[in-house]
Amino acid sequence: MRDGFNRNIEYIRVSVTDRCNFRCLYCMPAAGVRLLEHADILTYEEILRLLSLLGRAGFRRVRLTGGEPLIRKGFADFVREVAALRYFEDIAVTTNGSLLAEMAFPLKAAGLKRVNISLDTVNVNRFSHITGGGKLSRVIEGVEAALLAGLSPVKLNVVLTDILQQSDISYFVDLVQTSPVSVRFIEYMPISQCDVSAGMSIPALKQTIETLGGLLTPTSMSYANGPAKYFRLSGSKGTFGFITPISEHFCGSCNRVRLTADGKIKPCLLSNQEYDIKTALRGEISDKNLLRLLERAITAKPAGHDLVDRMNAPGFCRNMSQIGG
Ligand code: GTP
Ligand code: 5AD
Ligand code: SF4
Repeated sequence: MRDGFNRNIEYIRVSVTDRCNFRCLYCMPAAGVRLLEHADILTYEEILRLLSLLGRAGFRRVRLTGGEPLIRKGFADFVREVAALRYFEDIAVTTNGSLLAEMAFPLKAAGLKRVNISLDTVNVNRFSHITGGGKLSRVIEGVEAALLAGLSPVKLNVVLTDILQQSDISYFVDLVQTSPVSVRFIEYMPISQCDVSAGMSIPALKQTIETLGGLLTPTSMSYANGPAKYFRLSGSKGTFGFITPISEHFCGSCNRVRLTADGKIKPCLLSNQEYDIKTALRGEISDKNLLRLLERAITAKPAGHDLVDRMNAPGFCRNMSQIGG
């Protein structure tokens, strides 16, 4: 489907819940967030109807997000039904990894292709601090289970905050040298009042990696449809990726829209614009008219974001935990 700027939009990110068992400092304010009522959250059947329409309209990639998607009841069965639609060549999940040790194999069997897992530090105490009490060992077990289950490529998401230390970077350099993972560093997007500071810049980080592990050479990745730019170290099994929504945004080649857990299409992560789909979905609307509503939302996708201009006025839109990143 083409948007108003002739970009090919073929990737939908679906937030299946706004709930999360972590409280990452960069994702929500310390005071927490108001959670949606159960009745406001789209049922799996409702999501499947929308995915089926989008699939028919040319969407080929779907990413399931949260909150934490794995905590929603019946999630693996839902993945099976998404796969059974047969429209999506790429079915991925973004998760905090805390439940992956148990769920990696069932999810793979259900038709999930790959996972992106948040891992912002490998220091037990700093991990607990940034996630609001998360257990690092559980997430490491989850990463291992994802690799064993063949949910590949396994990508690790590291948001660049002051939590990240040199010892973490050393760990990631060793990991990338020996394991087929992609470690991706993401510039912190200050979209709500979060109690965390942005960490080192991407150029400084690249320099640190090169001091520890040698030259970074640009490389392409399979499934590299996303915003990351990838690099390899000489002889490394894995890769590093850098996601730069602030210093070098990638809006011109954006291929995605989002569906929130409460049934709104968000044409852009960093815009307040939202299009209610749920009200129509719960009425007597035909597939044809429902698709028209989706098309209207997608056509209205803005050219790009202006987050840099609004950095001094945070709190302008939903928290990341309510959008799914
Ligand atoms: P891949 O398909 O594996 O490349 O996934 P992804 O990187 O698109 O998804 P993931 O959920 O792992 O997100 C990684 C980071 O990229 C998160 O911080 C997201 O918020 C950010 N991100 C993903 N899509 C967009 C986007 O369209 N705009 C901006 N500004 N950030 C995005
Ligand atoms: N800035 C950048 N990335 C973020 N994420 C969550 N909040 C932010 C933020 N403020 C990332 C997490 C998660 C993904 C869904 O979004 O790393 O992996
Ligand atoms: Fe939960 Fe993910 Fe947000 Fe952390 S980043 S609080 S794991 S939704």
